[in-house]
Amino acid sequence: MASFSAPELIVIKRDKGELSTEQINWLVANYTRGAVADEQMSALAMAILLNGMNRREIRDLTMAMIASGEKLNYDDLGVATADKHSTGGVGDKITLPLAPLVAVFGVAVPQLSGRGLGHTGGTLDKLESIPGWRASLSNEEFHKQLAEVGAVICAAGSGLAPADRKLYSLRDVTGTVEAIPLIASSIMSKKIAEGTKSLVLDVKVGSGAFMKDIERARELATVMVQLGQDAGVNTTALLTDMSTPLGLQIGNALEVKESVEVLAGGGPADVVQLTVELATEMLRLSGKTDVDVAAALNDGRAMDKWRQMISAQSGNPDAPLPVAKEQHVILAPADGMLSHLDALQVGTASWRLGAGRARKEDPVQAGAGITLHAQVGQRVTGGQPLMTLHTDEPARFEGALAALEGSFKIEVSGKPSERQIVLERING
Ligand code: URA
Repeated sequence: MASFSAPELIVIKRDKGELSTEQINWLVANYTRGAVADEQMSALAMAILLNGMNRREIRDLTMAMIASGEKLNYDDLGVATADKHSTGGVGDKITLPLAPLVAVFGVAVPQLSGRGLGHTGGTLDKLESIPGWRASLSNEEFHKQLAEVGAVICAAGSGLAPADRKLYSLRDVTGTVEAIPLIASSIMSKKIAEGTKSLVLDVKVGSGAFMKDIERARELATVMVQLGQDAGVNTTALLTDMSTPLGLQIGNALEVKESVEVLAGGGPADVVQLTVELATEMLRLSGKTDVDVAAALNDGRAMDKWRQMISAQSGNPDAPLPVAKEQHVILAPADGMLSHLDALQVGTASWRLGAGRARKEDPVQAGAGITLHAQVGQRVTGGQPLMTLHTDEPARFEGALAALEGSFKIEVSGKPSERQIVLERING
């Protein structure tokens, strides 16, 4: 491998230049083994945030991060594989009903997930509220479950894209998370290394999302779809609304409860709609176009698959879910239509109640979070409950209530309306 120096590469990006494939490969390999220092990589990440990268540079960065670790492969299973990645939102529990739903149709779902940080929840934190459920599997256990059940949601092992693991922690403390080339290469390096053949990206837009406006969400989605296609992964993206929470439950066990309602054929319309849309897209990319996805939620097949998936990871699908010790109810101040309920404020309040963590080593409360009694577009009655806050530690109510200040609007003469959840589609 050609040899370069880190200061030389930093200067190229600082001066809005282009890094060659050899330079990017050298950088990622040497950063991963510790020969490029954190302070040098921080400077480079900031130069990338400010000056960007072209498509070729982003592709090279993604490929170099994949090459820093192992790449999984399921060719021996002889089945199609499909996965979904969400850029994260408030009340986004879709992975839970989605993975078993897709598996019902013979498409295997190898989903390596993360934990929540900040106001967005993490899939593993949610599933860990199920008594006995285990997030860590060996590669052999992962493979066996994928073959026997057809769906696995578990923690990504340390062998997958280690360069991203290192770079992501650095970005988190250097104000460089928001750079599109860095987000796209971070997400896609893990998804490509995970070995799925098809991938649907759920790119969230709105106050509760990384991308607050649709232009940036579109740009991120387009870059990621291109990266997937270039790596031979059939990839599409849906841009979906995250201006207000998804569903009625926000928090770990509360979201499991709502997911089980969806798997039983019920649940809020927006959660059901997005689950069905994403499942249909994953199946379409895997060549299954003539299937009635919603039927599998209504006739118990997706629920059976869920039970198998949870049991295979030592979870008890029949055990009662943890419930927080304390509740505080917020009443609707007037009759009318709920015209606004801010996703970020609700997510922040839920986090402060104990559902999320501030540092990655912090514990989360399984029962903490928020139950909404109405969604945007629905009528509310003055004096009736609007939200219930849940926590084990009542001292947390004050901070949560402060986060919710001004979070909702009720229009006395507003007309009920349906939520538009899928805003745009980006095809490969
Ligand atoms: N999720 C990731 O894995 N990486 C990012 O950069 C942002 C979100």
